[in-house]
Amino acid sequence: METKAVTIPDLSGRTAVVTGANSGLGLETTRVLARKGMRVVMAVRDEDKGRTAAKAVDGTTEVRPLDLADLASVRAFAEGWDGPIHLLVNNAGVMAVPRSCTADGFETQFGVNHLGHFALTNLLLTHVTGRVVTVSSGLHRMVRAIDFDDLNLDSGYTPGRAYAQSKLANLLFTLELQRRLEAAGSPVLATAAHPGYAATNLQSHAANPLYRGLMAVGNRLIAQSGAAGALPTIYAATQDVPGAAFAGPTKMGGTRGAPGLCSRSEAAWDSIAARRLWTVSEELTGVEFPDLSPGD
Ligand SMILES: NC(=O)c1ccc[n+]([C@@H]2O[C@H](COP(=O)([O-])OP(=O)(O)OC[C@H]3O[C@@H](n4cnc5c(N)ncnc54)[C@H](OP(=O)(O)O)[C@@H]3O)[C@@H](O)[C@H]2O)c1
Repeated sequence: METKAVTIPDLSGRTAVVTGANSGLGLETTRVLARKGMRVVMAVRDEDKGRTAAKAVDGTTEVRPLDLADLASVRAFAEGWDGPIHLLVNNAGVMAVPRSCTADGFETQFGVNHLGHFALTNLLLTHVTGRVVTVSSGLHRMVRAIDFDDLNLDSGYTPGRAYAQSKLANLLFTLELQRRLEAAGSPVLATAAHPGYAATNLQSHAANPLYRGLMAVGNRLIAQSGAAGALPTIYAATQDVPGAAFAGPTKMGGTRGAPGLCSRSEAAWDSIAARRLWTVSEELTGVEFPDLSPGD
């Protein structure tokens, strides 16, 4: 692991899109970026919650609707976009929820955490000039591979397994996105981050009441703050890191502390699985990697 002091540069005149910006890490990420001068577009599924959250942010923000559980909403968000995006933060997520499906029939955790962001990124990519940061989790290690034969986990759904698979997908997505950007000669960087264990709303929607209770206690006694949990995202977004870098907390087994580069599972480095996941995600969403060659 590598830690270094984080000095965030002035970001005035730039624009960021942060998904799930109304709470937890998304809101804390928004706060930091806006404080550094960025205009932050808070992409949220509930605009009222978004507007309430935006009131607590110093700086320039704009709230726009985005439901990652509905590809029509993702397309509408992208179609309404005009102008450069210096930073796209794929932060929104759901964790260990009871089995359900998105509007397009995908298992919700895979659909929201991975497929929704996959579609959003590719639909916005011609606007992106800087970085795409995708928020994964240390829990990506809880699965050894993507189950390509049963992506929706129809024959073996457990809330934790579905979450872990979606978070492994976030890292494979970053790996393949970076490879494609490089192959296209694009200066855009794809990076990833995880917050360790941060006290947010994430665990309060879990399917298992015992787990929810334990996490509520853990959030009070063990977890770091949402503000601290957002620092790896800021690190991956603003520091001098290589393509496909993964940032996380560097203390207590990667659960808390100052951000730095961190390790990932072997499965998250599997470039063949990353390409396969990309192809399957294109088929499922109907969204492809765009032509990034400069226009006439
Ligand atoms: N907290 C941790 O310890 C931890 C650890 C590892 C990874 N992470 C990752 O960190 C990211 C942020 O989570 P958090 O901890 O900040 O949890 P959080 O407070 O629950 O925030 C999650 C955000 O995602 C939004 N969201 C959920 N479903 C959505 C959808 N269909 N469309 C658009 N937005 C949606 C939520 O909106 P609503 O408010 O409307 O529900 C909320 O704004 C997630 O990707 C999570 O996997 C967190």
